[in-house]
Amino acid sequence: MSIILGIESSCDECSASVVHYSADAVEVLSCETFSQIAIHRPYGGVVPEIASRNHLETVNPMIEAALKSSGVNARNLDAIAVTNRPGLVGALLVGVSAAKSMAYALDKPLVPVHHLEGHATSIFLNTQGKPSVPRNELPYPMLLAIVSGGHTNLHLVPAAPELWPLDFLKRSLVGRSRDDAAGEAFDKTAKLLGFPYPGGKWIDETAALGGNPKAFDFPRALPQKATLDFSFSGLKTAVALKAEALRKKGELQASLPDLCASVQEAIVDALFLKISLAVREYGCRSLAIVGGVAANSRLRGRLENEWKSIGLTRPPILPEMRYCTDNAAMIAGAGAFRFRQGQFLQGTDYLTLNAFASPEF
Ligand code: KG4
Ligand code: ZN
Repeated sequence: MSIILGIESSCDECSASVVHYSADAVEVLSCETFSQIAIHRPYGGVVPEIASRNHLETVNPMIEAALKSSGVNARNLDAIAVTNRPGLVGALLVGVSAAKSMAYALDKPLVPVHHLEGHATSIFLNTQGKPSVPRNELPYPMLLAIVSGGHTNLHLVPAAPELWPLDFLKRSLVGRSRDDAAGEAFDKTAKLLGFPYPGGKWIDETAALGGNPKAFDFPRALPQKATLDFSFSGLKTAVALKAEALRKKGELQASLPDLCASVQEAIVDALFLKISLAVREYGCRSLAIVGGVAANSRLRGRLENEWKSIGLTRPPILPEMRYCTDNAAMIAGAGAFRFRQGQFLQGTDYLTLNAFASPEF
């Protein structure tokens, strides 16, 4: 049994979490997140310098709050896990420096975690009221789709994973976006339609106001069977042209629910098509979808209704909504798996630990 503190500051969420790891379950004891969304909204996207400065102000309060609500004394932690790549380097450095100082002051091991490894681990988080899926009971091979603001990756997972290290994530990659990530496609098209950052949630909510997903026929790129890759840049251009035409006619506002539903359908269709192809091609028996876009209601709805038709033997695994978008519980969980395997830095080894912007993919 071990108790791990996780810290996440790779982009615009400053989060700290305490998890308890025993046998095969990672129980989330607390997860406190400060979202900077409102701070970046006037700029239409995340401003890196503002993000780092804000993380500086919120990282200690988040750690204190997470410890307090978990009822765990910092002295009783077994290790401290922190995201050290990929992300905004200044933002990452704040979390990494906080984690290093805390580990040094308390003489605790430090576990660096790749952000995508964190997202992958979110399917194994056990939260009050919702037990996670036991790793060893899942049917494999599994297809793991990581769909976030920065990535749209399909990974083939042949057997119960002990860890999700970077070399595994690299080796198992069978499909990815050639340009924008799915989350980026949501955010950029939402911006073209006049919604604030980040637009995914706005598109989802506006589409739900009775929008017709067939009202506009937006392109589905790379539909051919030969590739499991995605491309979303053509969609952006098509939406820009359509929005401009409707604006000129004074019809943009009234068309927003239909536009949002149609944009959402184009992105969800592309995801659904490639996920189905990959499941069939590799004979996958289970499917997990993680990352911010896994919070999309249309994607969740389609997966829940149509999973049997693509050959899966059980319903797809979708993390709880609050563990789809960035959070420290997934980082603490990934840290717990690593700690179990003896993969941590100790003593003064971690004083040279750095943050990296690149995913190394
Ligand atoms: O995983 P995440 O929090 O951050 C990254 O690691 O990138 O994902 C953020 C992305 C954003 O692009 C956001 O618009 C998208 O997830 N997102 C959604 C929804 N909620 C968040 N996209 C579609 N529908 C949603 N409900
Ligand atoms: Zn993320």
